[in-house]
Amino acid sequence: MRYSSLPAAVGLSSVLISGAIAQITTVTVSAPASECSQSSPTGTGTGATPSATKELNDYALEAGKLYFGTASDIPPVDDQGAELYDQAYMALLNDSHMFGQRTPANIQKWMFTEPSPGEFNFTGGDQFISWAQEHNQLVRCHNLNWYNQLPDWLANGNWTNATLTAVLEREITAQITHYGDACYAWDVVNEAFTDDATTSIYRDDLWSQVIGAPAYIYLSFQFAQAAVEANNLNTKLYYNDYNIESPNNKSANVANLVSELQARNIRIDGVGLQSHFVVGGTPSRAQQLQTMNSYIAYGVEVAQTELDVRFSSLPYNASGLQTQKENYRDSVGACVDAGDACVGTTLWDFDDAYSWVPGTFEGEGAADVWDESARRKPAYYGVVEGLTGEVVPDPPGTVSGPGTVTRKRGWKGRGVGRGVRRG
Ligand code: G3I
Repeated sequence: MRYSSLPAAVGLSSVLISGAIAQITTVTVSAPASECSQSSPTGTGTGATPSATKELNDYALEAGKLYFGTASDIPPVDDQGAELYDQAYMALLNDSHMFGQRTPANIQKWMFTEPSPGEFNFTGGDQFISWAQEHNQLVRCHNLNWYNQLPDWLANGNWTNATLTAVLEREITAQITHYGDACYAWDVVNEAFTDDATTSIYRDDLWSQVIGAPAYIYLSFQFAQAAVEANNLNTKLYYNDYNIESPNNKSANVANLVSELQARNIRIDGVGLQSHFVVGGTPSRAQQLQTMNSYIAYGVEVAQTELDVRFSSLPYNASGLQTQKENYRDSVGACVDAGDACVGTTLWDFDDAYSWVPGTFEGEGAADVWDESARRKPAYYGVVEGLTGEVVPDPPGTVSGPGTVTRKRGWKGRGVGRGVRRG
């Protein structure tokens, strides 16, 4: 199966609209009647009721962005996926007023797409894309080269430069060719740089050990470019990383990578700023804008690809929620400030019940815009503020503390499903 085009209804022309900040005014936004009703499993990934009011993607389009989006871990990669059976979650995900773009959190990663050497499995990725297209949502495809979530045969193989390079080319070519223009963009290389750059600026991993860095990064983009050109695709080719949202050595290394690729006539179309932030520790709006501009200066576009703002200790309180709101406002606002070259913002899932954070940072979390009971946090109105440039007070009833979790769901494997799948 090859995908030939993007859904017709997606507002691609919106990218041409200016991203100027609106004059500061105050608007009142009503709270939704309810986003946390619960009923039987939807099971299909469809069945959303589109919202009648303006939501995040609508505001993003008005701000000149291409989309406002979210990651989602569907279809499940194992037997612990509960999102598909969570009606409140699926209604939000499927609402194209809320989200105009999706990224698969896991299903397109190498361990799932090439479980045995040379045997590709695109079933889950096809499903993800088909659901997104049903709801007129763009897809950012994620990812082609990473050190993590590799199949065992690859991670534990006995490789030479030549054999590993051949495997890399096969996977990149197969994925880009299969999904075609259904991918608005591909994260071609993910997280290649170290944070501290003490020993090396490049991560010590399979790729740098066997092929060498930056050689494997150049090769990855060359293979991606060849596949895009062979299939006459519009897919954008991105470098994607975290801690590259403020001026520092790592962000300078990424800007330098863009420059080095271009000097070699190797195509790179964009830089993805993952934007995994901490409440109270988020780079300022000006710092984020400055860093985006350091990439944009090379003629590439940028996107915030995995935005979330986690609490470093829990439980959170009302004051922390207001800081989180400001952090979301400033991050999303920086993309607006950057104008057309920042194409959009993607949340790394939108609902605390399904966040990756507690599984990685013990004791931290509540990073998302909706709480574990699928209620809007002040952060929601912070995103609206960032997109509109207006002051948006929290409507009565907005989450002001952890409260009672009506349908507890911890991170994968740690809780009981908010939906009914696990009974
Ligand atoms: O599939 C196994 C399952 O068999 C096992 O029972 C279960 C027990 O822990 O683990 C399951 O695998 C988990 C997988 O997600 C699928 O749910 C892994 O343990 C878990 O580590 C993995 O986490 C993913 C993480 O990448 C891996 O680093 C997160 O869902 C995913 O959101 C996250 O996404 C990354 C981006 O790709 C790159 N940037 C950072 C971002 C956040 O870490």
